[in-house]
Amino acid sequence: MQTSKKITIAIDGFSSCGKSTLAKALAEKLGYIFIDSGAMYRAVALYAFQNKWISDSHFEKEKLIENLPNIQLHFELNSSTQKPEIYLNNQNVAAEIREITVSSLVSKVASIKEVRQKLVAEQREMGKKGGVVMDGRDIGSVVFPQAELKLFVTAKPEIRAQRRFLELKATDPNITLEEIENNLTERDEMDSSRDESPLIQTNDAVLLDNSDLNPAEQLEIAYGLVLERLR
Ligand code: DC
Repeated sequence: MQTSKKITIAIDGFSSCGKSTLAKALAEKLGYIFIDSGAMYRAVALYAFQNKWISDSHFEKEKLIENLPNIQLHFELNSSTQKPEIYLNNQNVAAEIREITVSSLVSKVASIKEVRQKLVAEQREMGKKGGVVMDGRDIGSVVFPQAELKLFVTAKPEIRAQRRFLELKATDPNITLEEIENNLTERDEMDSSRDESPLIQTNDAVLLDNSDLNPAEQLEIAYGLVLERLR
Protein backbone atom coordinates (compact mmCIF):
# COMPACT_ATOMS: atom_id res chain seq x y z
CA MET A 1 0.00 0.00 0.00
CA GLN A 2 1.37 3.43 -0.84
CA THR A 3 -0.35 6.57 0.41
CA SER A 4 0.87 10.14 0.20
CA LYS A 5 1.18 10.37 3.99
CA LYS A 6 4.44 8.78 5.08
CA ILE A 7 5.08 8.05 8.71
CA THR A 8 8.20 7.12 10.69
CA ILE A 9 8.26 3.65 12.21
CA ALA A 10 10.68 2.81 15.03
CA ILE A 11 11.29 -0.84 15.89
CA ASP A 12 13.35 -1.58 19.00
CA GLY A 13 13.99 -4.69 21.02
CA PHE A 14 16.46 -7.29 22.23
CA SER A 15 19.07 -9.02 20.06
CA SER A 16 17.90 -11.57 17.48
CA CYS A 17 14.18 -11.17 18.02
CA GLY A 18 13.34 -10.64 14.36
CA LYS A 19 13.34 -6.83 14.32
CA SER A 20 15.17 -6.55 11.01
CA THR A 21 13.01 -9.21 9.35
CA LEU A 22 9.91 -7.30 10.38
CA ALA A 23 11.34 -3.88 9.52
CA LYS A 24 12.40 -5.02 6.04
CA ALA A 25 9.06 -6.71 5.26
CA LEU A 26 7.08 -3.74 6.54
CA ALA A 27 9.17 -1.28 4.52
CA GLU A 28 8.66 -3.38 1.38
CA LYS A 29 4.90 -3.55 1.91
CA LEU A 30 4.66 0.20 2.45
CA GLY A 31 7.23 1.31 -0.14
CA TYR A 32 9.32 2.85 2.65
CA ILE A 33 13.08 2.92 3.26
CA PHE A 34 14.41 0.25 5.62
CA ILE A 35 17.41 1.05 7.82
CA ASP A 36 19.10 -1.54 10.01
CA SER A 37 20.85 0.72 12.52
CA GLY A 38 22.55 -2.28 14.17
CA ALA A 39 24.49 -2.83 10.94
CA MET A 40 26.01 0.63 11.41
CA TYR A 41 27.24 -0.18 14.95
CA ARG A 42 28.54 -3.50 13.66
CA ALA A 43 30.47 -1.78 10.83
CA VAL A 44 32.13 0.60 13.32
CA ALA A 45 33.05 -2.40 15.52
CA LEU A 46 34.51 -4.14 12.45
CA TYR A 47 36.59 -1.06 11.63
CA ALA A 48 37.99 -1.00 15.19
CA PHE A 49 38.72 -4.74 14.98
CA GLN A 50 40.46 -4.44 11.59
CA ASN A 51 42.67 -1.72 13.05
CA LYS A 52 43.45 -3.89 16.10
CA TRP A 53 42.02 -1.35 18.53
CA ILE A 54 39.61 -3.85 20.02
CA SER A 55 39.69 -7.53 21.00
CA ASP A 56 38.13 -9.61 23.78
CA SER A 57 40.85 -8.40 26.15
CA HIS A 58 41.57 -4.79 25.16
CA PHE A 59 39.92 -1.68 23.77
CA GLU A 60 41.75 1.49 22.70
CA LYS A 61 38.64 3.67 22.80
CA GLU A 62 40.54 6.90 22.22
CA LYS A 63 42.00 5.59 18.92
CA LEU A 64 38.50 4.78 17.68
CA ILE A 65 37.06 8.11 18.80
CA GLU A 66 39.91 10.02 17.09
CA ASN A 67 39.31 8.12 13.86
CA LEU A 68 35.52 8.40 13.72
CA PRO A 69 35.71 11.09 10.98
CA ASN A 70 37.50 8.51 8.79
CA ILE A 71 34.56 6.12 8.91
CA GLN A 72 32.13 6.48 6.02
CA LEU A 73 29.03 4.31 6.03
CA HIS A 74 26.35 3.92 3.42
CA PHE A 75 23.73 1.37 2.36
CA GLU A 76 23.19 0.02 -1.16
CA LEU A 77 20.37 -2.24 -2.29
CA ASN A 78 21.48 -5.73 -3.35
CA SER A 79 19.50 -6.17 -6.55
CA SER A 80 19.13 -9.96 -6.23
CA THR A 81 18.08 -10.15 -2.54
CA GLN A 82 16.46 -6.69 -2.45
CA LYS A 83 18.21 -6.20 0.90
CA PRO A 84 20.10 -2.99 1.69
CA GLU A 85 23.73 -3.89 2.39
CA ILE A 86 26.16 -1.79 4.38
CA TYR A 87 29.40 -0.39 3.00
CA LEU A 88 32.31 0.63 5.21
CA ASN A 89 34.55 3.11 3.39
CA ASN A 90 33.10 1.85 0.09
CA GLN A 91 33.69 -1.85 0.89
CA ASN A 92 30.68 -4.15 1.17
CA VAL A 93 30.91 -5.62 4.68
CA ALA A 94 27.38 -7.04 4.89
CA ALA A 95 28.63 -10.60 5.53
CA GLU A 96 31.61 -9.77 7.76
CA ILE A 97 29.56 -7.75 10.24
CA ARG A 98 27.43 -10.83 11.01
CA GLU A 99 30.42 -12.93 12.13
CA ILE A 100 30.52 -13.91 15.78
CA THR A 101 33.78 -11.93 16.31
CA VAL A 102 31.93 -8.71 15.51
CA SER A 103 28.87 -9.78 17.52
CA SER A 104 31.04 -10.32 20.56
CA LEU A 105 32.64 -6.84 20.36
CA VAL A 106 29.83 -4.61 19.07
CA SER A 107 28.11 -3.85 22.39
CA LYS A 108 31.34 -2.37 23.75
CA VAL A 109 31.60 -0.11 20.72
CA ALA A 110 27.89 0.82 20.89
CA SER A 111 28.31 2.02 24.48
CA ILE A 112 30.65 4.89 23.45
CA LYS A 113 28.97 8.28 23.47
CA GLU A 114 30.93 9.66 20.49
CA VAL A 115 30.09 6.63 18.35
CA ARG A 116 26.40 7.02 19.18
CA GLN A 117 26.45 10.76 18.44
CA LYS A 118 27.89 10.15 14.98
CA LEU A 119 25.53 7.32 14.09
CA VAL A 120 22.39 8.95 15.53
CA ALA A 121 23.10 12.08 13.44
CA GLU A 122 23.48 9.95 10.29
CA GLN A 123 20.31 7.97 11.09
CA ARG A 124 18.28 11.15 11.57
CA GLU A 125 19.57 12.47 8.26
CA MET A 126 18.57 9.25 6.47
CA GLY A 127 15.08 9.35 7.95
CA LYS A 128 14.39 13.07 7.88
CA LYS A 129 11.82 12.87 5.07
CA GLY A 130 9.73 10.19 6.83
CA GLY A 131 8.64 7.02 5.05
CA VAL A 132 11.23 5.08 6.98
CA VAL A 133 11.28 1.90 9.04
CA MET A 134 14.35 1.81 11.28
CA ASP A 135 15.22 -0.93 13.73
CA GLY A 136 17.64 -0.87 16.63
CA ARG A 137 17.74 -0.24 20.37
CA ASP A 138 17.20 3.52 20.76
CA ILE A 139 15.15 4.41 17.69
CA GLY A 140 11.91 5.23 19.53
CA SER A 141 13.67 6.72 22.56
CA VAL A 142 16.47 8.80 20.99
CA VAL A 143 16.70 8.77 17.19
CA PHE A 144 13.03 9.40 16.37
CA PRO A 145 11.17 10.15 19.64
CA GLN A 146 8.41 11.68 17.47
CA ALA A 147 7.89 8.47 15.41
CA GLU A 148 4.18 7.90 14.72
CA LEU A 149 4.52 4.16 15.36
CA LYS A 150 6.90 2.57 17.87
CA LEU A 151 7.16 -1.17 18.29
CA PHE A 152 9.07 -2.96 21.03
CA VAL A 153 9.70 -6.47 19.75
CA THR A 154 10.57 -9.38 21.98
CA ALA A 155 10.66 -13.20 22.02
CA LYS A 156 11.64 -15.86 24.55
CA PRO A 157 15.47 -16.07 24.91
CA GLU A 158 15.65 -19.77 23.88
CA ILE A 159 13.64 -19.06 20.74
CA ARG A 160 15.86 -16.12 19.81
CA ALA A 161 19.04 -18.21 20.28
CA GLN A 162 17.65 -21.06 18.18
CA ARG A 163 16.70 -18.69 15.33
CA ARG A 164 20.15 -17.07 15.29
CA PHE A 165 21.81 -20.52 15.49
CA LEU A 166 20.00 -21.75 12.37
CA GLU A 167 20.94 -18.54 10.57
CA LEU A 168 24.66 -18.62 11.47
CA LYS A 169 25.17 -22.37 11.10
CA ALA A 170 24.79 -22.01 7.33
CA THR A 171 28.00 -19.97 7.09
CA ASP A 172 29.82 -21.20 10.22
CA PRO A 173 29.35 -24.96 10.75
CA ASN A 174 31.47 -24.89 13.94
CA ILE A 175 29.21 -22.47 15.79
CA THR A 176 27.41 -23.88 18.86
CA LEU A 177 24.03 -23.01 20.33
CA GLU A 178 25.72 -22.35 23.67
CA GLU A 179 28.09 -19.79 22.13
CA ILE A 180 25.12 -17.95 20.67
CA GLU A 181 23.10 -18.10 23.90
CA ASN A 182 26.04 -16.61 25.80
CA ASN A 183 26.51 -13.87 23.23
CA LEU A 184 22.83 -12.90 23.27
CA THR A 185 22.66 -12.81 27.08
CA GLU A 186 25.81 -10.70 27.29
CA ARG A 187 24.68 -8.25 24.62
CA ASP A 188 21.18 -7.85 26.08
CA GLU A 189 22.72 -7.14 29.46
CA MET A 190 25.20 -4.59 28.09
CA ASP A 191 22.67 -2.91 25.76
CA SER A 192 20.08 -2.55 28.57
CA SER A 193 22.43 -1.38 31.32
CA ARG A 194 24.76 1.04 29.50
CA ASP A 195 24.72 4.75 30.45
CA GLU A 196 24.36 6.00 26.87
CA SER A 197 20.86 5.46 25.39
CA PRO A 198 20.17 2.06 26.96
CA LEU A 199 17.56 -0.22 25.41
CA ILE A 200 14.21 0.68 26.96
CA GLN A 201 10.58 0.23 26.05
CA THR A 202 9.13 3.75 25.86
CA ASN A 203 5.61 4.33 27.26
CA ASP A 204 4.20 4.93 23.80
CA ALA A 205 5.68 1.76 22.23
CA VAL A 206 3.48 -1.23 21.39
CA LEU A 207 4.87 -4.49 22.80
CA LEU A 208 5.02 -7.28 20.22
CA ASP A 209 6.06 -10.73 21.51
CA ASN A 210 6.68 -12.90 18.46
CA SER A 211 7.66 -16.13 20.27
CA ASP A 212 4.62 -17.90 18.81
CA LEU A 213 4.26 -15.92 15.60
CA ASN A 214 5.70 -16.61 12.18
CA PRO A 215 7.08 -13.68 10.16
CA ALA A 216 3.85 -13.32 8.13
CA GLU A 217 1.67 -13.17 11.26
CA GLN A 218 4.02 -10.66 12.85
CA LEU A 219 3.92 -8.53 9.71
CA GLU A 220 0.11 -8.59 9.65
CA ILE A 221 -0.08 -7.25 13.22
CA ALA A 222 2.46 -4.50 12.53
CA TYR A 223 0.75 -3.56 9.27
CA GLY A 224 -2.59 -3.27 11.08
CA LEU A 225 -0.98 -0.82 13.51
CA VAL A 226 0.42 1.21 10.60
CA LEU A 227 -3.03 1.47 9.02
CA GLU A 228 -4.42 2.74 12.35
CA ARG A 229 -1.74 5.44 12.45
CA LEU A 230 -2.37 6.44 8.83
CA ARG A 231 -6.11 6.87 9.38
O1 DC B 1 20.57 -5.26 15.95
P1 DC B 1 21.96 -5.84 16.04
O2 DC B 1 22.04 -7.08 16.89
O3 DC B 1 22.58 -6.06 14.70
O4 DC B 1 22.82 -4.71 16.78
C1 DC B 1 24.20 -4.88 17.02
C2 DC B 1 24.59 -4.17 18.31
O5 DC B 1 24.51 -2.77 18.13
C3 DC B 1 23.72 -4.50 19.51
O6 DC B 1 24.39 -5.34 20.42
C4 DC B 1 23.40 -3.18 20.15
C5 DC B 1 23.91 -2.13 19.23
N1 DC B 1 22.86 -1.21 18.75
C6 DC B 1 22.61 -0.08 19.48
O7 DC B 1 23.21 0.10 20.53
N2 DC B 1 21.72 0.84 19.03
C7 DC B 1 21.05 0.62 17.90
N3 DC B 1 20.18 1.55 17.47
C8 DC B 1 21.26 -0.55 17.15
C9 DC B 1 22.16 -1.47 17.61
